[in-house]
Amino acid sequence: MADQRTFVMIKPDGVQRGLVGEIIGRLERKGLKLVGLKMLQVGEDLARRHYAVHEGKPFFEGLIRFITSSPVVAMAWEGPDAVDVVRRMLGPTDGRQAPPGTIRGDFGLDVGYNLAHASDSPESAAQELALWFADGELVGYQRAVDPWLREA
Ligand code: RTP
Ligand code: MG
Repeated sequence: MADQRTFVMIKPDGVQRGLVGEIIGRLERKGLKLVGLKMLQVGEDLARRHYAVHEGKPFFEGLIRFITSSPVVAMAWEGPDAVDVVRRMLGPTDGRQAPPGTIRGDFGLDVGYNLAHASDSPESAAQELALWFADGELVGYQRAVDPWLREA
């Protein structure tokens, strides 16, 4: 299984509620490798480009206001099937429906305030990583634990 990279963003509610460590901790403990990290106040242009597929939908303008309302934490995570693995750890969009054990299921009660974003396909991961990170901002490295995470 080839490694994949995925884009994850802790949204303003996740930062404000003090869940940055919790969310990063879950992804770390899963065995995924952190290969990019920064905190930023998202501007309107980046927000609109990130959520361009939702333009015109009834929740779009509210979503842009929310994402630009307070800082976020943008990250790149690497691992086998990372896109799918992280989406399943996040759970369904609406925290009320997300099963316990998922990030949204354990910490969320709302469809909009749902703590974090993760890329939904390898294609959107590539696009989003290029949008959020400049060349050279992502790193590649070996961890001593890597050989203990899966069969050679
Ligand atoms: P995300 O893109 O943030 O990872 O979330 P997702 O794939 O689970 O959900 P998506 O359908 O892509 O929707 C993007 C974000 O828009 C907000 N939303 N609000 N009020 C609503 O009906 C509604 N629907 C979507 C959520 O913040 C959702 O994460
Ligand atoms: Mg989405």
